[in-house]
Order: sequence, then structure tokens, then C-alpha cells
Amino acid sequence: MSIQQKLWGGRFEEATDAFVEAFTASVDFDKRLASHDIRGSIAHATMLERLGLLTREELQAIVSGLEAIGAEIEAGQFPWEVSLEDVHMNIEARLTQRIGEAGKKLHTGRSRNDQVATDVRLYLRTEIDRICGMILRLQTALVDLAEREAATIMPGFTHLQVAQPVTFGHHMMAWYEMLSRDYDRLRDCRKRVNVMPLGAAALAGSSFPLDRDYTAALLDFSGPAANSLDAVSDRDFAIEFAACASLVLMHLSRFSEELILWTSAQFGFIDLPDAFCTGSSIMPQKKNPDVPELIRGKSARVFGHLFALLTLMKSQPLAYNKDNQEDKEPLFDTVDTLSGCLRAFADMMPHVRPNRSAMYASARKGYATATDLADYLVRRGTPFRDAHEIVGKAVRLGMESSRDLADIPLEELRSLSSVIGPDVYQVLTLEGSVAARSHPGGTAPDCVKRAVAEARVRLAALQGS
Ligand code: ARG
Repeated sequence: MSIQQKLWGGRFEEATDAFVEAFTASVDFDKRLASHDIRGSIAHATMLERLGLLTREELQAIVSGLEAIGAEIEAGQFPWEVSLEDVHMNIEARLTQRIGEAGKKLHTGRSRNDQVATDVRLYLRTEIDRICGMILRLQTALVDLAEREAATIMPGFTHLQVAQPVTFGHHMMAWYEMLSRDYDRLRDCRKRVNVMPLGAAALAGSSFPLDRDYTAALLDFSGPAANSLDAVSDRDFAIEFAACASLVLMHLSRFSEELILWTSAQFGFIDLPDAFCTGSSIMPQKKNPDVPELIRGKSARVFGHLFALLTLMKSQPLAYNKDNQEDKEPLFDTVDTLSGCLRAFADMMPHVRPNRSAMYASARKGYATATDLADYLVRRGTPFRDAHEIVGKAVRLGMESSRDLADIPLEELRSLSSVIGPDVYQVLTLEGSVAARSHPGGTAPDCVKRAVAEARVRLAALQGS
């Protein structure tokens, strides 16, 4: 392409260096924004016609031309040109090629600077809605599992050592809660994404009396950005999204780690479906939990993108700088990675099969009801510190003879404290221990069922909205 054919070629004498042309181009990746670019252009043109800057016929030609280009792109028949640099100039040049003079008027009162910022916001807004839907689907799978396993007992851990018995349903609802905060964070982030840069033009606004409220309404933005310099330059909304995405993936990586541990022979707490595992090329017995492992690993690239975006923005003077073209690949990969991980998780969880007897047997090891015995002594007037000491001795007694606390005869227990009575065995069983924790937020089966019911109300309300 000759320099005079470029949309900005007027003041140039020499052709762009061939390498520089390829180096500065973004079309290979920003063509992903095409449908949003077209939508933004149609809204902008509609507003221009309203102001009398385009005739009705010109607007009609622009709209039908852009729609035809949209169809061409969807059909994979659009002639993308690297020499036209980016998605914006590719579409604009094609429009003029198709409809002639009217196409040249589309860019009135607009710059690629406000155009690209608008496109990215439209894109991200759509993706946030889709991702939020995926979070709700995963949460639904967790609530289903929690309901089925509300009374299933497993060991709860601190320091990865058996601590106290909990219910598997309660454990699943812990992940549900984390994902609820992730969901809320994304909805909140969306408010700041959903502000319209159009009208800021290159940086200073436009000398035309643009009706920015009208364009914003056409594009379902909450309103136009209040400051033109800010509107074209800051990418904090993309950074905020990457931070929200990083938190989701931090949670999914922790959850993955548990699934990986639980499928090992050493734990044996759950079975993952074959469809989500792979074998080993050398060890015939292996069934590897690849999907959770990969999700755990993929969190790393999204944390990297968050840092890339922060570093990209850091120290940039106002207003637009070409640096910002580098926001797209990390942002797109953040969206793709997060979507893939959420989808894999939501598809996998309904097929996870808990091994109730293995979890129960594991909770029986490790003196998980020791705290319950201490609480029992306190209820009979023993100060907690003394109770702690007495139970420590009881645990030692059990360890010396490989017996659980519930298996030590009453006489032996009474030798440690005379306040112990025959009713002690009600608190020493795993069932008694979890049932006792029945306050809101507790692990008792009744509490899990209540938490599940509340979650279902929330999910129905959000899925309906
Ligand atoms: N491709 C550019 C980007 O992604 C579009 C805006 C270019 N603006 C400019 N003045 N060079 O940021």
C-alpha cells in the first residue's frame, strides 16, 4: 500500500518501513473487537445524523455498509490488511471502498483513541456478563453437591493436619462463598467498565456539539466519561478486571489443589471422572488429575497479565500513548484463560464422586474430636486451659494404644478427670461433633441445608436477572 493510500498518509512523503508497518500493526489481534467496533460506529453515525452532520441517506449507507462488513467478517471473508494497521482502519477503509463518499464522513468528531477505548469497554462488558454466568453455573454444581453431601463427614484440616470433623457439604459451600465474592467483584468492576469514552476524540473532546448522552444510551453505557483526557488514556478498568480474574483463579487454583490431593491414593476422598483425567505413557496404572492441575497452572499466566497491565500503565503521561495497544493481548488471554478454567470446573464438578467411607475413616484418625472433649469438660466447670491439658493426656493415652478417643473405656477417661460421665461418648463421635456446630456458618448438616437453601434463592434471582 502506498503512503497516500493510508488513512493518515496526507502529511507523509516516504513510505512506512516494511518492518515498522508489521511491528506497529495490531490487526492480527484487535480484529477480535470487530463486532464492537461496528456497533460503536453505528451509534456514532446515528448521533451524527441527529446533529445534521450526516444526511439520512448517508447514515443509511453507513449502517448497511457496516452491517455487510460485519457479515463478511463473520463469514471469514473480510480482506484484513496489515498495512491498514488495526481493526478500526481496516473497517473504515472497507466501508469507503463499499459505499464511497459517505464512508469518509464516519470519523467526524471521533479519533481512534476514543474509538478503541470504547471498543475495549464494550468487549469487556460482554465478557464480564458471560463470565459471571459461568461462575453461577459452577456455583450451582457446588450447591447440588453440598445438598447431596450435607451430612457426609470428612476431616477438616489446619496445617494439612487433621483438625476437627466437618461435613463435605460445608466444605463445598466454602468454595461457593469464595465464588460469590468473585461474582460480586466482577459485577462491581463492570460498573466502571460501563462508561463511554466516545466524544473524547483524540484527547481534548470535539469542536462539534456531540450528543454524548444519546450515543451512550444507544450503546447501553451508563453515561459518557466525565473527562476527555482520562477517557482516552486510562486502562484501569482492564487492570481491575485482571485483578478480579486473578482472584477467581487464585480460588480455583486452591480448589484444584484440594481435588488433586483428594484423588491421590493417600487421601482417596473423591473420584474424578475418566473424561477429565489422562493416563501415563509409561505407567499403566496412572490416572492423572490433569484438568485441576492445568487450572492450577493457568492461574500463573493470569497473574502475569495483571502485572503486565499494571506495568504497561505505570508512568504513562496523559493522554493516549501507543503503549496502550499492548493492553489487548493480556486482556484477551485473561478472558480466554478464565473462561476455559471456569468451564472445565463447571463441567467437571457434577461428576465428582465423593468416597464417603474413606473420608469417614480418615476423620476417625487424628483425634479430630479432642476439642469436643475439652468443650465437654468446660461445660462441667473445668477451666479451658485445664481441660486442654487433660485432653492432651487422653490423646497420649489413645496414641500409646492406637485407639481413638471414642474407643477409650469410661473408667480410663475418668482417671484423667472425675467430671467425665457416660454421656461423653455423644460428643466424642464424629456425628456428635459436627451436629454440635449448628450456629449460622457452622458445619452441622442442618446448617449446610440452610446455607444451600439460601444459595438456591440467590442463584435463582441472579440467573433470572
Ligand atoms: N490500535 C490502537 C490501539 O490499540 C488504536 C488507537 C491508535 N491511536 C493512535 N493515535 N495511534 O491503541
